[in-house]
Amino acid sequence: MEPIFAALLGFALGSIPFGLILTRAAGLGDVRQIGSGSIGATNVLRTGNKGLAAATVLLDALKAVVPVLVAGAVWPHANGLTGGIAGVAAVAGHCFTPWLAFKGGKGFASAAGALAALAWPVMLACAAIWAAALFLSRISSVSSMVTVVASPLVAWGLGYPQVITPLIAIAAIVLVQHRANIGRLMRGEEPKIGSSKT
Ligand code: G3P
Repeated sequence: MEPIFAALLGFALGSIPFGLILTRAAGLGDVRQIGSGSIGATNVLRTGNKGLAAATVLLDALKAVVPVLVAGAVWPHANGLTGGIAGVAAVAGHCFTPWLAFKGGKGFASAAGALAALAWPVMLACAAIWAAALFLSRISSVSSMVTVVASPLVAWGLGYPQVITPLIAIAAIVLVQHRANIGRLMRGEEPKIGSSKT
């Protein structure tokens, strides 16, 4: 039962569409109607409101941190299994939220939150990879994809084998959610951060 409760908790919290809630509350309309159509922070940034984008990153990460920590605290004997399940479920909840007809965002900020709660040293190393990939490419989706693909390897390298399986599952979800980005990248149409093109 514990893994099921962990999954339900993660999915329920992950499904809260903060990007949409914040942009609507700020009178910026429906963020799904602009840019990539995602409810994530990168797309919120395309509204021009940096503060709102930062708040979206924070809340989307937090909604994955909380269920991972709660699962670990409530079911400590599960050796991190429930935490991993809660983290994967939070990312899935963000990407396929029932509140938006099972559509949503790309899952990267929630993935970062889940990883921070599961294994913070792995998260720090991944943050460095993300920053380097963003600096070199100037493309948000490239840095997200590079980071999630690298994350299980980083976990292995730093000695956190228990998070490798959840990270592979998270990477699979995040990559599937980036299929339109991959198409745009192949056509050379993916916008760079800060470009006026959406
Ligand atoms: O983290 C989100 C990013 O990887 C892609 O966002 O809106 O450019 O598809 P977007």
